Amino acid sequence: MSLSQKAESIASEFVFSDDDVRKCSKQFIFELDKGLKSVVPTVCQIPTYVTKVARGTEKGVSLAVDLGGTNLRVCSVELNGDTTLTAKHAKKVIPPGIMTAATGAELFHLIAHEIDQFLQLHHRDALEKLRQSKDVLPLGFTFSYPAYQTSINSGILLRWTKGFVIPDVVNKDVCQLLQVAIDEFNLPVEVTALVNDALGALMFRTYTLPLSQTRTSVGAIFGTGTNGVYLEKLSNITKSLGNHDDSTGEMFISCEWGSFDNGLLVQPNTTYDVKVDQISMNPGNQMFEKRVSGMFQGELLRVVLNELYADPDAGLFRGVQWNDPAQGEGPAPFFTPWAIDTSLLSMAAADNAQELPALSKALVETLRISADHVSADDVRAVKTIADAIGKRAARLAGMAIASVLIKGGRMTVDRNLLPVTGIVENPSDVEGVDIAVDGSVVELYPGFERYMREAWSVIDDIGPAGERMIKMGIAKDGSSIGAAIIALIAQMDVRHIQ
Ligand code: BGC
Repeated sequence: MSLSQKAESIASEFVFSDDDVRKCSKQFIFELDKGLKSVVPTVCQIPTYVTKVARGTEKGVSLAVDLGGTNLRVCSVELNGDTTLTAKHAKKVIPPGIMTAATGAELFHLIAHEIDQFLQLHHRDALEKLRQSKDVLPLGFTFSYPAYQTSINSGILLRWTKGFVIPDVVNKDVCQLLQVAIDEFNLPVEVTALVNDALGALMFRTYTLPLSQTRTSVGAIFGTGTNGVYLEKLSNITKSLGNHDDSTGEMFISCEWGSFDNGLLVQPNTTYDVKVDQISMNPGNQMFEKRVSGMFQGELLRVVLNELYADPDAGLFRGVQWNDPAQGEGPAPFFTPWAIDTSLLSMAAADNAQELPALSKALVETLRISADHVSADDVRAVKTIADAIGKRAARLAGMAIASVLIKGGRMTVDRNLLPVTGIVENPSDVEGVDIAVDGSVVELYPGFERYMREAWSVIDDIGPAGERMIKMGIAKDGSSIGAAIIALIAQMDVRHIQ
């Protein structure tokens, strides 16, 4: 077999067929349902205690701190009450040592330190005034890990995901840990809301969209990790809930769908997936995330290419010198776990020119090898495999979104409002379905939305007509601002009750 035939054959292992989409979606809805009945270890359906979307009329100032899989962000937000806002941001890459720190105290001290620095830099005067008036600023804690909530501002960490492993935080209330660290800096700041990033993205979109268009009921993240939130009827949540507002009859649920089908009953599973799982921080867990999110797709590609390279008949990168001193110091990225970023897959998908010049250049730079050893066949083989991994991820992502739309009852009522032709000239004329998404993969991978749409249209309860009703908008960096909005609403609610 030639290199290109071998690449095609591997790519075929990543095909996620229409039948697979339908089968997975059935199981997905089953798991969503199960998670509403009892506390399960997989799709754990975390109640968020947020029962309505933002209206765009909220007014006030609040803060957010956002612990993601890659960055730590702090922001302050002033909501003007007319769907506009003013925000100030600070961002820092999370130091790798912190993700595996010996104690949670180190992590929370760092977060509080960043909040302190941010306030000193941007809000020194406001700090003084707050101290004098003994008032506090509400803070939303965007925590992009599974923390089981029993109220809007408490959540017990069930397990770490992505690159984090700090055992002594597991089973503790992360809001309390953050509040203690903030108090050590003597800051007039109160953690009033714990917010998953998917919910933050959704709230940001609902605040900034004109009221008449706000029908957003699903939020999703496809970045370093993946997750989704959707609006569920309270009557369907039969496991125990803490005190909550029941005036809307609904509550946003954070699915934690990264752990969908950990038992691999229906998900695609190649020998490469098995390898990636084995070298990950959490083997056996987050099995859906490991096929979909940005943290894992680059590594999947590296693992596949390593195998291809080890096959002398394939002839991938023939004659390459991995430790070419002209290409820089350090271990060869090709043999270093996690050294290939998922952006390489985006690059591959974006390059459709005959000779694949952009991908070729990116390969030389990423792998630190000499261009002389990257043949046209090599680049084509990399593209074939990268595209297959990316397409499978996007179709799986689409399957997840479709499942929560169906479970949340969004695809049944509104479809009748479609014109008989099923063709929507102006989507805002019909009662559509709106979803807010964010994350590097959905934002930067060319064709991600197109592949998701393909998956939606093959699911019976959606179909091509339903697919056309679904509007999707990127809530860029919305998770922090959304958390600040929720924090402000939570503080207003508490003051209203008192
Ligand atoms: C976490 C979720 C988070 C998602 C996206 C997953 O690894 O478990 O809580 O929402 O990543 O950041």
